[in-house]
Amino acid sequence: MIYLVTGGAGFIGANFLNYFVPKQKEDIFINIDNLSYSGNLLNVQNIEKYENYFFRNVDIQDYDGLKHVFNEWNPDVIIHFAAESHVDRSILSPLHFMKTNILGTFNLLELAKHFWKNKDRCLFHHVSTDEVYGSLKESGYFTETTPYHPTSPYSASKASSDHLVRAYCHTYDLPVTISNCSNNYGPYQFPEKLIPMTLSNFLNGKSVPIYGDGQNVRDWLYVEDHCQAIWHIIHNSEIGETYNIGGNNELTNLEVVHVLADILAAFTGVDPLKYLEQISFVKDRPGHDYRYAIDASKIKNILGWSPAESIQSGMKKTVKWYLDHQDWMEKVSSDEYQSWLKLNYSDREVSNG
Ligand code: NAD
Ligand code: TYD
Repeated sequence: MIYLVTGGAGFIGANFLNYFVPKQKEDIFINIDNLSYSGNLLNVQNIEKYENYFFRNVDIQDYDGLKHVFNEWNPDVIIHFAAESHVDRSILSPLHFMKTNILGTFNLLELAKHFWKNKDRCLFHHVSTDEVYGSLKESGYFTETTPYHPTSPYSASKASSDHLVRAYCHTYDLPVTISNCSNNYGPYQFPEKLIPMTLSNFLNGKSVPIYGDGQNVRDWLYVEDHCQAIWHIIHNSEIGETYNIGGNNELTNLEVVHVLADILAAFTGVDPLKYLEQISFVKDRPGHDYRYAIDASKIKNILGWSPAESIQSGMKKTVKWYLDHQDWMEKVSSDEYQSWLKLNYSDREVSNG
């Protein structure tokens, strides 16, 4: 099988490739990514040596650039991770989200439609978010039939891309599947998101900004569990199906930060209260969704997937990874390194082949 993985230099895409490239030696994996601020080749350097792995620096907004990749490989499966993914950035500069998340997805769908006219076994898997459903109150869960009610520019752009994917399945018989997943955590997450930002700031003595009163709830899933769920869907799902993926691990943001302080303190020997003193409550995010929680019974019952990690085991692995990779955190956050990457990789392709 030839897998085209978009956004494979980012957090979840890189975890997916790092897990499956060494394991699936008979398969070929093409990573296409434009190395935006959250995508970094450091995230996939452990698999660069593998002969079944190739990287192409392509922006999914660039139809011709994508077409070149399709001409070269005509993939069997597209796993579409590439996106602008941070809600706060979507509030500040929504246009990037519309261009990458909507138009980029549209370009991929158009090319898949064109190149797969006479192909038997092919699949477009769209990686989406539970944020398309909007916000829950104290009770209830998102199911696959919950009506869409996106509330941020990010979630609205992801909802649009979900609708496009379904429309291509309905209108053109394009074989698609979709997954809507809850908040992920684990290695290689860009340190602007709550968990890596908190760990980085704890370790560097900086303040940890908590929006509002810290009582917003997210359902946390260890990233490798998400990758396994996607693999299950790609290989075992009926065409046209949607699956919600979640960890059944609801925590308030304040609870998350407390768990991180305790686990980090156990590794460093620092008093956890010292870390907790770094918390600072700041002005709330505009339109901040109160609660997300997933009912993952469909993927469990139909495909037999359930998460392997508990919040304690997943957080422990995560804290240890960030402690052992403080150089990674510094490098990916540095402007200098970001410009170096752009300079070196913007006009040429990188691969082992
Ligand atoms: P990320 O920001 O870490 O990675 C996104 C990757 O896409 C980066 O490597 C970036 O360089 C690349 N990219 C961005 N714009 C591009 C473009 N125009 N062309 C080519 N590549 C581009 O995000 P992530 O957390 O890994 O999220 C991956 C996917 O999973 C996204 O579609 C996101 O909506 C979805 N998702 C994320 C979470 C989560 O908690 N992180 C939860 C559910 C769903
Ligand atoms: P985030 O990691 O940005 O994911 P999302 O917004 O997609 O859920 O944020 C997770 C939660 O943490 C969310 O409720 C916002 C909150 N948060 C803070 O309180 N402070 C921060 O600095 C960040 C980045 C997030």
